[in-house]
Amino acid sequence: MKFAKTVLISSFIPFAAALDDGLARTPPMGWMSWEKFMCNIDCDNYPDTCVNEQLYKRQAELMVSEGYLEAGYTQVNIDDCWSTLERDPVTDEQVADPDRFPSGIKALSKFMHDRDLKMGLYSDIGSKTCGGYIGMEDHLELDANTFASWDIDMLKVDGCFEDTSVMNATYSELSAALNATGRDIIYSCSWPAYLDDYGEGDGGAVLYRLQEICHMWRNYDDIQDSWASVSDIINKWRRTDPNDPFVTVAQPGAWNDPDMLMVGNTGLSIAEERSQFAIWSILAAPLMMSNDLATVSDESKAILLNREIIEVDQDSLGKQGMQVASSDSEYSEGAYRVWARELHDGSYAIVLQNAFSMEMGVKIQFTPDMIGWDKDQQFTARDLFKKEDLEGTLSEVTMIVEPSDVQMIRVYKA
Ligand SMILES: *[C@@H]1O[C@H](CO)[C@@H](O)[C@H](O)[C@H]1NC(C)=O
Ligand SMILES: *[C@@H]1O[C@H](CO)[C@@H](O)[C@H](O)[C@H]1NC(C)=O
Repeated sequence: MKFAKTVLISSFIPFAAALDDGLARTPPMGWMSWEKFMCNIDCDNYPDTCVNEQLYKRQAELMVSEGYLEAGYTQVNIDDCWSTLERDPVTDEQVADPDRFPSGIKALSKFMHDRDLKMGLYSDIGSKTCGGYIGMEDHLELDANTFASWDIDMLKVDGCFEDTSVMNATYSELSAALNATGRDIIYSCSWPAYLDDYGEGDGGAVLYRLQEICHMWRNYDDIQDSWASVSDIINKWRRTDPNDPFVTVAQPGAWNDPDMLMVGNTGLSIAEERSQFAIWSILAAPLMMSNDLATVSDESKAILLNREIIEVDQDSLGKQGMQVASSDSEYSEGAYRVWARELHDGSYAIVLQNAFSMEMGVKIQFTPDMIGWDKDQQFTARDLFKKEDLEGTLSEVTMIVEPSDVQMIRVYKA
């Protein structure tokens, strides 16, 4: 196959302007209810899958018993539809739905903390949440204090029912209010997802502002449990310029969020699940599962618990990877791709992706010049899915990649 384009990874290092509070030094990992359970509040008809405190407790128990916590997944995150529709008439505070969360959020935080897990909560910067529940508008400081008093560790703040022209002011104000609570709370902002250009206009001004005020942000459309959705998001992140703001903005304490992991659900094939997991790790993406941990297949679980790929995602250098080579063919532009991410020890994680959904497996080649190494550089390589070293000292790696699948290696200078 022929590579149409090869772009070297530069050693460009962006000015460090991320929040300097010690939080989210690596991309947050955990579980979140939204994609799988959405806003199902009908606990009479769906007692086991409605959004109530039992749901989070059950998933939390499975996080521990199935080995996810041990592999690094710590957050258990409530999403929309947990509150009542109106604030407390006396205190003006947000209130958890008394039927579905009778013990309250603070008790749920304690449940998580007793198991070394962390509690995540959701709200909205506007007058209502996307599901129509209580929004934070005009109550940023009060709500920050309430949430901190509930001992939460992470807060995702959506952008429904808010004019985008005031989001810089309101998301910034909430950032300061959260900091002023004195509690360590990872702050996830949905601001760019509400912009037509996803924050990329004006040299990435919004992205660089997010870097200063939020620990992570949802840049793009909501993920769904389908390959159409996952591959659309992958294509959005298919960046080839090392100075692209989408690439340079990520750093310890500040992460792009391409949205939840669909691994362990029913909509993707195992090849597609491998593709999502491998590419999310190249992107230094938060690894937030949205699935029912009670029904994850063994094959999917092996992907989610692959320590060597998690290690790539969590690499301390905190540099986001990108596409370093791709093919052009008569039938599909750029369907065969090489992705790369520089890691703290000078090694690189490499993903060979076949984004074409037809035909048999194709050979995709990695050569050292794709990552800015001398073209004659000898190297050793390890297969991160097979968890075994490739034999000998190498000058290139060619692997067969099946349709909608990936291969993943880590390469070290010999
Ligand atoms: C608040 O911000 C300061 C200055 O960036 C930082 O040192 C501190 O850790 C932050 N505190 C919290 C609780 O986030
Ligand atoms: C956001 O507001 C700050 C001032 O608070 C300003 O310096 C910055 O340029 C604004 N950024 C964007 C993207 O609007």
